[in-house]
Amino acid sequence: MTGDSFVIAVDGPAASGKGTIATRLGALYGYPVLDSGLLYRAVGVQLLQSGGDLDDAEAAAALARKLDPASLEDPEVRTRRAGEAASRVAAHTPVRTALRDFQQQFARQSPGAVIDGRDIGTVIAPWAQAKMFVTATPQVRADRRWLQLSAQGETVSHDEVLADILLRDRRDSGRADSPMVAAADSVLLDTTEMDIDRAFDAARRIVETARARQDQS
Ligand code: C5P
Repeated sequence: MTGDSFVIAVDGPAASGKGTIATRLGALYGYPVLDSGLLYRAVGVQLLQSGGDLDDAEAAAALARKLDPASLEDPEVRTRRAGEAASRVAAHTPVRTALRDFQQQFARQSPGAVIDGRDIGTVIAPWAQAKMFVTATPQVRADRRWLQLSAQGETVSHDEVLADILLRDRRDSGRADSPMVAAADSVLLDTTEMDIDRAFDAARRIVETARARQDQS
């Protein structure tokens, strides 16, 4: 199922740096970038806005099936509330099924695509030519997310952000369907001690190694 598309899968937990890495890889190679977390965030936000229950798998799936990509631009999807709602609706299999085709079609674009998320290298595009699992300690990720949320104007304490991150890690790696896990053939990129330039450089080297491997085959 590879076609002539070079897929870069960037998975990892919240605030690991994967979003920035994915954006910069896309710019470097001229590939479109999909932040798959936004899909789950948009479903969660729409469910909350319609007064629905985040545990209602069918109501969430109905929204996922008619998701308008324009809704990913809504600033509300980037809030803390949206992140929490996303990880609740993301545990429902009908929601994941409803969002799968869109992501797989995105992955099949020629000449390539970058997708960041939790299950890109394992479930959405297991055929991806370059896979990395980006991580950092919860403390460092909480520092980064707190700065980001504060810059967006959210009033939240560092401890609350750390608690959110730990809860989401547990939920995302503990769910039955498509849990967050590093693909066996992914390269682990721990950004704890790295600034974003060093992290990007390490990610670029992972992709270059994968490209060289492909050229040889
Ligand atoms: O990446 P981000 O933190 O925006 O993702 C929000 C939530 O969406 C995650 O905590 C996770 O529950 C869910 N998600 C997922 N699979 C993906 C991307 C995100 O389950 N590929």
